[in-house]
Amino acid sequence: MARADRFTAKRVVVLGGNSGIGLACAQGFAAEGARVCLTGRNPETIAAALATIPGARGESVDIADLAAMDAFYAGVAQEEGGIDVLLVNAGMGGFALIDTLTPDYWDEVHAINLRGCVFAMQKALALMGEGAAIVVTGSIGGHAFVPGNLAYGAAKAGLALAMRQFAGECVRRAIRVNMVSPGPIETPLLYRNPGMDERAVAGLREQMIAAVPMRRMGTAREVADAVLFLASHEASFITAANLMVDGGALEIG
Ligand SMILES: NC(=O)c1ccc[n+]([C@@H]2O[C@H](COP(=O)([O-])OP(=O)(O)OC[C@H]3O[C@@H](n4cnc5c(N)ncnc54)[C@H](OP(=O)(O)O)[C@@H]3O)[C@@H](O)[C@H]2O)c1
Repeated sequence: MARADRFTAKRVVVLGGNSGIGLACAQGFAAEGARVCLTGRNPETIAAALATIPGARGESVDIADLAAMDAFYAGVAQEEGGIDVLLVNAGMGGFALIDTLTPDYWDEVHAINLRGCVFAMQKALALMGEGAAIVVTGSIGGHAFVPGNLAYGAAKAGLALAMRQFAGECVRRAIRVNMVSPGPIETPLLYRNPGMDERAVAGLREQMIAAVPMRRMGTAREVADAVLFLASHEASFITAANLMVDGGALEIG
């Protein structure tokens, strides 16, 4: 349930806001008064997302393309003059067991989930002032053994470290930096695994649910609730936190 107005007139940028968790966050921020600007790559889902968020802006920009990100932030500076909340949520999934892991797949995952996200944070800092907040989407896959998760898990583990580095170096600027690490969440990500047909996805889903003490997938809205909390003044004494939203999977699974 929305808390009404934690983000009134706040300028919120959601990187990866046209689907799943990012879309639920963008909708949640806007429902509490934020001026939302979201990104993704797919122009069709960006248009569909914007249709659900009156007044929001959106742009197709690949987080792995650092020059495109520079141009995006230049536009945000011109339109909004700054950023109060940055959600770095863009990410790709996929599995590759060690024997099938290729350098190309490793590089693709890391270019988006680690390198792209890190420089997206670095570049945004120039637009952020005292009291601003960054929230990063990690994953319990960055902390736990999951078969086939080496490339993805290593990138998310690196991102968790990056979050702490940013939190430490940004304290003196009064910018808080935190992470939300979801467990299995019902989003389109599950259906984007290359080479997996519907039956394989259903099997994967059952496997994931079995690993969650609450015996269900989480919802994008449940992750958004945690993201909005960390981005809000309610979390004013919290920085460098990594909040698991995983039905207990990491600690008691
Ligand atoms: N669902 C889960 O079980 C789960 C669990 C743990 C962590 N996560 C993390 O949660 C985040 C959101 O995932 P989701 O589950 O909501 O999946 P999703 O529905 O597939 O959303 C992924 C988002 O990231 C964007 N994105 C991907 N690559 C991008 C790129 N190169 N440049 C810009 N945007 C890009 C996508 O936009 P386009 O579609 O336009 O590319 C989309 O908005 C990801 O970081 C993911 O790793 C998810």
